[in-house]
Amino acid sequence: MDFKGRAQNWDSDARIQRSEIIANKICEMVGNSKDSSVLDYGCATGLIGFNLCDKFRKVTLMDSEKEMLDVIHEKIETNKISNVFPVLKDLTKEDCEEKFDVIYTSMALHHIIDTQKMIKKFYDLLNENGTLCIIELDKEDGSFHMNEKQFNGHNGFEQKYMQEILKNSGFSNIKSETFFHGEKTYQEKRIPYSLFFAIGNK
Ligand SMILES: C[S@@+](CC[C@H](N)C(=O)[O-])C[C@H]1O[C@@H](n2cnc3c(N)ncnc32)[C@H](O)[C@@H]1O
Repeated sequence: MDFKGRAQNWDSDARIQRSEIIANKICEMVGNSKDSSVLDYGCATGLIGFNLCDKFRKVTLMDSEKEMLDVIHEKIETNKISNVFPVLKDLTKEDCEEKFDVIYTSMALHHIIDTQKMIKKFYDLLNENGTLCIIELDKEDGSFHMNEKQFNGHNGFEQKYMQEILKNSGFSNIKSETFFHGEKTYQEKRIPYSLFFAIGNK
């Protein structure tokens, strides 16, 4: 799916509030991370990552949409932040040389067709004993993307299916739970949704 033209209006109140909740959940689940590096894959304008720059030594924000990265560059400059590094990359097409202590991906995985291949890639990009966090839509009926006609991704995921993929990719200590209930509106129709948090260790 194309995110072109969406960056300038991305930071809505609902996304800002949800991102704070997600960032707090990452901190709660990962624990002490002051000396750790973290990768946010599919970061958009960095709403989650900028909440974490005081909690991690180094924050890498990666996205395949240049306009999202442009907004991040502006935020870094305006707020004089020295430990956040934006990277324009699509890991389904390109490799990454750097490894990370923690990787999280929030609501990007449902846009990537080959889930198993992507999660295996995350495994390879983690340092030994590293942690992967997945924040994703619980399985839904397609309503969430009904306003995006060209959407060809996943209508959320069954948590059991995600746990199985994590296990098959080599992760251990796998846990997942629903932690967020939200609602979006499209053409005056209320669309409730929920997010789960899955975690595994390399
Ligand atoms: C729904 S937004 C999620 C943004 C943010 N993580 C959040 O939770 O609010 C999905 C983001 O993933 C990015 N994305 C989609 N496919 C991608 C890919 N193959 N590689 C990197 N980024 C991708 C999009 O550009 C977009 O910024």
